[in-house]
Amino acid sequence: MRLSVIGCGYLGAVHSAAMASIGHEVIGIDVDARKIASLSAGEAPFFEPGLPEILSEGIASGNLRFTTDMAEAKGAKVHFIGVGTPQQADGYAADLTYVNAAVDALLPYLNPGDIVAGKSTVPVGTAAELAPRIEAAGATLVWNPEFLREGWAVQDTIDPDRLVVGVASRPSTGSGIDDGSDASTSSATDPAEVLREVYHPAIAKGTPFIVTDLATAELVKVSANAFLATKISFINAMAEIAEVTGADVTQLADAIGHDVRIGRRFLGAGIGFGGGCLPKDIRAFSARAEELGRGESVSFLREIDAINLRRRERAVHLVVSAFDDGVVGKKVTVLGAAFKPHSDDIRDSPALDVAVRLKGLGAEVTVTDPEALENARRQHPQLNYVDDRDEALRGADAVVVVTEWDEYRRQLSPEHAASLVAGTIVVDGRNCLDASAWRAAGWTYYGMGRP
Ligand code: UDX
Repeated sequence: MRLSVIGCGYLGAVHSAAMASIGHEVIGIDVDARKIASLSAGEAPFFEPGLPEILSEGIASGNLRFTTDMAEAKGAKVHFIGVGTPQQADGYAADLTYVNAAVDALLPYLNPGDIVAGKSTVPVGTAAELAPRIEAAGATLVWNPEFLREGWAVQDTIDPDRLVVGVASRPSTGSGIDDGSDASTSSATDPAEVLREVYHPAIAKGTPFIVTDLATAELVKVSANAFLATKISFINAMAEIAEVTGADVTQLADAIGHDVRIGRRFLGAGIGFGGGCLPKDIRAFSARAEELGRGESVSFLREIDAINLRRRERAVHLVVSAFDDGVVGKKVTVLGAAFKPHSDDIRDSPALDVAVRLKGLGAEVTVTDPEALENARRQHPQLNYVDDRDEALRGADAVVVVTEWDEYRRQLSPEHAASLVAGTIVVDGRNCLDASAWRAAGWTYYGMGRP
């Protein structure tokens, strides 16, 4: 099928390449000429495992092209909107400037019968507001939220754990799960059927395909992220209690995680969540709920946010209090800058926040990261950056692990690290090190919510 993808950031670039890899003919469109040049050359403008491979394959096959010219969207059957919805500069709400601009720019090139599929994370009600403009062009709007995780984005796009398509004025099916049994009765122009065709390979493998109304589809995305953020902040709240009682939050997480109703995933206590999604999505959700007069329904999200931000402070406090005479002038090496491993994304990175706070308190901070240094350097030029991990560790008075890359978690032996540093203080901001091995190698180990 001919597809266009508007917005070629973390979401759109991966979506374009992934759709080409399953056999569609894809045009990726973005206003950023540098990004388009890089993608057209088969180079991913950001670090995402597996993306360079499917980009080159798609370009070589002729199935995948990138352009800054919106006119090239003309002729595609489905137009995916994958532009960013960042937090507004002066508030918690989502900034919909890019979504509106993308739709406005696309309108002149829509053919009657086309489908516009919103993938961006938007406040509930956005699709209903956009729909009349798209319908006036004879096209149909659906909302098809994206659940990809950075670092696993290619896999999550080609092989998602569920597909959700919100359509206008279609009642949801009884169970909410559209299992395809009504395919023979649906018309060829049913937009959900067209999306089903787009995602055929995943659906054939059994991926649930859930058809909802527009509002539900929008809400599925924000509520999923709100739930994940809540899970992380829940365990971080338990870490705070553990800290005053001498309990160990990692054992607690293991123990409660064995209950299948709870599950162990996303119970990793540490310096908390960051990135381009969870923080801004819970804030936008609060803002939208307030607008809807239902602020109290999600007022707990304010607390989730507050717990999350407190954990960064806690990591900083552990470093500062590890020294009898404070942190001023101390050499602190920060292992990690990305908001999580397998990513070079530093948007709202708790790792960099910890580094910046330590610098603000007078420490001499050196940051290293396998992938995110270039981005970090650009955003925080005041910090000292060293590419080589061992070079970064040399002479440090304290080490702080803030992104659980394998390079630090598995591949750095505590004995080797001890041979490089000046002081054997380690703060494990992700509870990712083997505390007993580090202690055995002579380190004073501090975890998050661990004795
Ligand atoms: C998230 C959602 O997982 C994804 O479904 C959605 O589409 C976009 O937002 P992503 O931002 O890529 O994806 O990262 P995710 O893997 O969810 O991690 C978010 C943050 O939570 C990271 O900073 C991570 O370090 C932190 N985290 C995660 C924890 O602190 N503890 C955990 O147990 C898990």
